[in-house]
Amino acid sequence: MKTDATLTALFPEANGIPEAYRLGTGSQPAPIRQDTWLVDGEIRHFEGPAQEVLSPICIRSGGELKPVTLGSYPLMGEKEALEALDAAQRAYDNGCGLWPTMSVGDRIRHLEEFAVRMKEKRAEVVKRLVWEIAKSIPDAEKEFDRTVEYIRDTVQAMKELDRASSRFSIEGGIIAQIRRAPLGVVLCMGPYNYPLNETFTTLIPALLMGNTIVFKPPKIGVLLHEPLLEAFRDSFPRGVVNTVYGRGQTIITPIIRSGRVDVLAFIGSSRAADVLKTQHPKPHRMRGVLGLDAKNAAIILEDADVELAAKEVILGALSFNGQRCTALKMIFVHQKIRAVFLEKLVAGVNALKRGMPWDAGVQITPLPRLDQVEQQCDYVADALSNGATVVNPGGGDTAGTFFNPAVIFPATKAMKLWKVEQFGPTIPVAEFSDINEPIRYVIESDFGQQASVFGTDPAVLGKLIDPLVNQVCRVNLNCQCQRGPDVYPFTGRKDSAEGTLSVSDALRIFSIRTLLAAKENGANKRILSSILEENLSNFLSTDFLF
Ligand code: G3H
Repeated sequence: MKTDATLTALFPEANGIPEAYRLGTGSQPAPIRQDTWLVDGEIRHFEGPAQEVLSPICIRSGGELKPVTLGSYPLMGEKEALEALDAAQRAYDNGCGLWPTMSVGDRIRHLEEFAVRMKEKRAEVVKRLVWEIAKSIPDAEKEFDRTVEYIRDTVQAMKELDRASSRFSIEGGIIAQIRRAPLGVVLCMGPYNYPLNETFTTLIPALLMGNTIVFKPPKIGVLLHEPLLEAFRDSFPRGVVNTVYGRGQTIITPIIRSGRVDVLAFIGSSRAADVLKTQHPKPHRMRGVLGLDAKNAAIILEDADVELAAKEVILGALSFNGQRCTALKMIFVHQKIRAVFLEKLVAGVNALKRGMPWDAGVQITPLPRLDQVEQQCDYVADALSNGATVVNPGGGDTAGTFFNPAVIFPATKAMKLWKVEQFGPTIPVAEFSDINEPIRYVIESDFGQQASVFGTDPAVLGKLIDPLVNQVCRVNLNCQCQRGPDVYPFTGRKDSAEGTLSVSDALRIFSIRTLLAAKENGANKRILSSILEENLSNFLSTDFLF
């Protein structure tokens, strides 16, 4: 793959960064040296070593590209990790703490206060998202806004859940009130591609259900969380939310080995999840809420609307440079329409605007790290050595952290791209003549998140949907794969996930049903009535949350 001068020119010179996105202006001096962490209700300074943070956005000078140093974050050790865990455990206090015993209405008020404070930090968080992972400005803004919306929807779902549990049942002479209770200490770790949103889609429901949190940001996408530390500190009781920073092996291993984590909420690779789970001395005690690898396939039938299929494949495979767990990562097209499909696919890929996150209408931006560019190059070289070609002009060319999307044809079993999750802007395309070929691919895959099917004949589609829904957890008809809307269930089979996330499912997964039960007799009825009338319990309650 060659380094391309046109791609190099996409990077800005030092004075080519728009004023609003320049680091070192206004109240935000560059670089951002974060030495703070939130623990036990305090923002403390960390005196130890720091991890340097480089931006994927490079500065061009005399034809050379130099990465921008964004700042640094603390590289903590076991001591700090266990301090954060201790604080979360104290706040939970075996379920007797202020937060786990607080009424649902009061917990909601704390979360709403946090949402208000969070919104005040939108510009700062978005700017850091842009610099840390090179997400385009509209996508970074969307990630922020979608997260705030997720908080609002979670509050609504919590109210509905509470309303449904606010009644007593009488069965077989037993009076009962059944509610959902928290599980304990939750360790939250999100991914770099949606460092804010995907972390918060576990952290927020876990909090609202009354759990306490130890939160480690992903390896890339750390600094953007720092503007929210004060809001966390001020909106929740002491020790309810705690942060740790550093290398997983140094800080996460001792936390899990302690046996004091009740829920592992992790979005990342299945390999890492396997290691983490086995570190717990009693793995059955640690519930897993896991969003893992995926290799979602698109199946384009011979009667598909080719224009539409090409458009959706481009969106599905290249939104945020293909760095979405839901991205389309393997394309099967019927041989009768393969030529016209590839033509449209290539035309569409060519037309995508390459550039920096702040360039108007930009669709392809740099990859967060240089080794990710090398990884894509390796997949392409491997495909070429196994008989494929790059069918789009300039596909696979690079400049610094920029990788020009590559359309690979024909993809075959012999290639790495057949099986690995490329998580980047490389699109492997295979052709088929027998529908059993892509079905077999989906069956044999280690992953089972989603699939997309493109076609127009209801009889053929109906027959294709049936085997697919038993292999993956969402079949998308004539459109790309995606997670949203967030009220829909998001999960996967095989190595793709454990547990289901949606606004309402997430509340369930971070809690357990528990009930108060009493024999239906006069004495018990009088006790229960008094508890309710005099508001003597936060659990037992018939209050209706408006
Ligand atoms: O990386 C996985 C994300 O959950 C995907 O979300 O389909 O809305 O981009 P999305």
